[in-house]
Amino acid sequence: MIVAIDGPAASGKGTLARRLAQHLGFHCLDTGLIYRAVARDQAHRGFRLDDLWAAVATARGLDPRELEDPDLRGTAAGDAASIVARIPEVRAALLAYQRDFARQPPGAVLDGRDVGTVVCPDADVKIFVTATPEVRARRRFAEFEARGAGIAYEAVLQDILIRDRRDTGRANAPMTIAADAVLLDTTNLSIEAAFDAAVGLIKRKIGHQGR
Ligand code: DC
Repeated sequence: MIVAIDGPAASGKGTLARRLAQHLGFHCLDTGLIYRAVARDQAHRGFRLDDLWAAVATARGLDPRELEDPDLRGTAAGDAASIVARIPEVRAALLAYQRDFARQPPGAVLDGRDVGTVVCPDADVKIFVTATPEVRARRRFAEFEARGAGIAYEAVLQDILIRDRRDTGRANAPMTIAADAVLLDTTNLSIEAAFDAAVGLIKRKIGHQGR
């Protein structure tokens, strides 16, 4: 079974995906980390982020065991990721890994921007998680504050708005809601309530499939 969770930056899709995977005993992949790692490796190799052929080579050479780097979680890594993610050949180079991951038994939860539309168009359950940019910025700001990162709320909001524009505006695999996805707006929902709603959706789906 494949659960696809897409949504904009800081929508809470990662937290939701991890909790669902834990609950279901499924594998979990944060596909954003792959793009973040490509951007990191590209910089380490001394190339510009938009150097097409170097970025493709970096993506092809990506070692998925190196996704656990805490530096990948920051704002700069997210920004850099959204730049390399615009390159169609980079996206193509990363598809097979994501699809193989999704097919692992007993199931997998993948979160990102194009999981339900491009990576796993046949996913059993598709959820598009969103919230207003202000609420997303407030949540992200609270996380940064808890970690002691001195960053202003306004800067976090600006970053989110820029990334939304880049991720929805790109020509290839833009962030968009799959026709058969369920929209989960968490603007006024706690993590707990969002989790319950997602579990309800999955249960209904499993019921329909006769499992
Ligand atoms: O989910 P995230 O914030 O970690 O993603 C970082 C960037 O990677 C995001 O701004 C766009 C890109 N991305 C993508 O293009 N497709 C995905 N499936 C996941 C992330």
